[in-house]
Amino acid sequence: MWGRWARLLEAAKRTAMKKNVSKEQHHPDALRASFSGKLGYVLAVAGSAVGLGNIWRFPYLAAKYGGGMFLLVYLILMLTFGYALIVSETALGRMTGKSPVGAFEKFGKSLPFRFGGWVNAVIPMLIVPYYCVIGGWVIKYLVEYLRGSVMELAEDTYFTSFISSSVSVEFWFLLFSVMVFLVIIAGVKHGVERVSKIMMPILVILAIFVALYSVTRPGAVEGIKYFLIPNFANFSWMTVVAAMGQMFYSLSIAMGILYTYGSYIKKDVDIEKSTTQVEVFDTAIAILAGLMIIPAVFAFSGGDPKMLQAGPSLMFITLPKVFASMGMGTFAGVLFFLLVLFAALTSAISLMETSVSTITDELHWSRTKACLLMAVVMAAVGSGSALGFGALDFVQIFGMSILDFFDFLTNSIMMPLAALSTCILIIRVVGFAAVAQEVECSSAFRRKKIYVFFMKYLAPVCIGIILVSSIANVMGWISM
Ligand code: PHE
Repeated sequence: MWGRWARLLEAAKRTAMKKNVSKEQHHPDALRASFSGKLGYVLAVAGSAVGLGNIWRFPYLAAKYGGGMFLLVYLILMLTFGYALIVSETALGRMTGKSPVGAFEKFGKSLPFRFGGWVNAVIPMLIVPYYCVIGGWVIKYLVEYLRGSVMELAEDTYFTSFISSSVSVEFWFLLFSVMVFLVIIAGVKHGVERVSKIMMPILVILAIFVALYSVTRPGAVEGIKYFLIPNFANFSWMTVVAAMGQMFYSLSIAMGILYTYGSYIKKDVDIEKSTTQVEVFDTAIAILAGLMIIPAVFAFSGGDPKMLQAGPSLMFITLPKVFASMGMGTFAGVLFFLLVLFAALTSAISLMETSVSTITDELHWSRTKACLLMAVVMAAVGSGSALGFGALDFVQIFGMSILDFFDFLTNSIMMPLAALSTCILIIRVVGFAAVAQEVECSSAFRRKKIYVFFMKYLAPVCIGIILVSSIANVMGWISM
């Protein structure tokens, strides 16, 4: 079945490529693939953006770092800083026609340029291993729902005992990773994207349905208030640090992806408008996921602070309780985890594809060799993260499990550095005039003044503060 699917898709791709050749000749790099149109681009970016970040990561961070306060800080950061960075990365990608390493090197070959490009490019390589561990958890839950274990999954201790059972976690992690590799090697990425276009709307409808169910449970009102109404008493520095990391993660910013996607688009794509569309869509899904999970925490455990602090396990502990109480729990559980699996797969594939193409482009390695290198990275970092709650739970890095450590390292340290590199590149080298000119290729740059203000003053200051405070926090110099 895989073989036939792959052959059909290859044939479709060849026809599409033939059609595209003539259109691409004016492009900086005529051989570069290109999106079929404006909608294709928005959908591709949205497909990469919407993933476990929205459904699994956002609700647990919001629950942990202040509910409504977290949401407010997240929205402000996204509309100002996130917006400016998406526009910048996309414009630089389109201007140079390159992924981050090439884009930075186009402006200079000295060490700072190399560092700027590589820090952006390495992040996906470090995220994809632990992303696949969570993907494995999702498959495990899907399989359990298929077997009808609705009641067992809803037990408090189910998740904890699952993640400490090393062999099982490793098995599901490997299964998810193999699925990702198969798609990358067979080159059926476009097929998956097509399937996900059908799955995404179903996911949205199901999420609305589950959220409605969750917010109407007795006791859920407190949860809705906690999630939607900012309460300054719940604010801490960690709220800002976590919200900024989450914004990078969820919108796929500061990790080279948007440079790469920008390099694929034509001059007529309205960068400002597509940025807004992606932000609205991505945030809507995150808020929906928050409404599914946070009110349910209050309904099922009375807003127990320990539950709110549950972290990465929150989705896996709370949703099964919701499903178990729904009456048709098996159906809801199977459908939900199947859809999340697809959202996770499309994002993991885009992370892996970016990593593999950076290695092939920059080190001039063959695709097979690049896949082998990624397999080694996956085995090392991914297995470490998978076993970090079981056989390797004695390994604590700065007080964090291996998975949490890689999440922290990429989101709170490396992404701010990557974003800072982009800011400096634009301020010191490229110049705002050139970026504006690139955006204006397709339409007027409506928010130009405010964009320059965000990039010049807000972004470097924000990033500097965040970087220093997250390092100080892990070193134990300050507690946030
Ligand atoms: N943005 C994705 C998510 O929210 C994660 C991701 C980042 C995927 C970068 C691809 C590239 O899950």
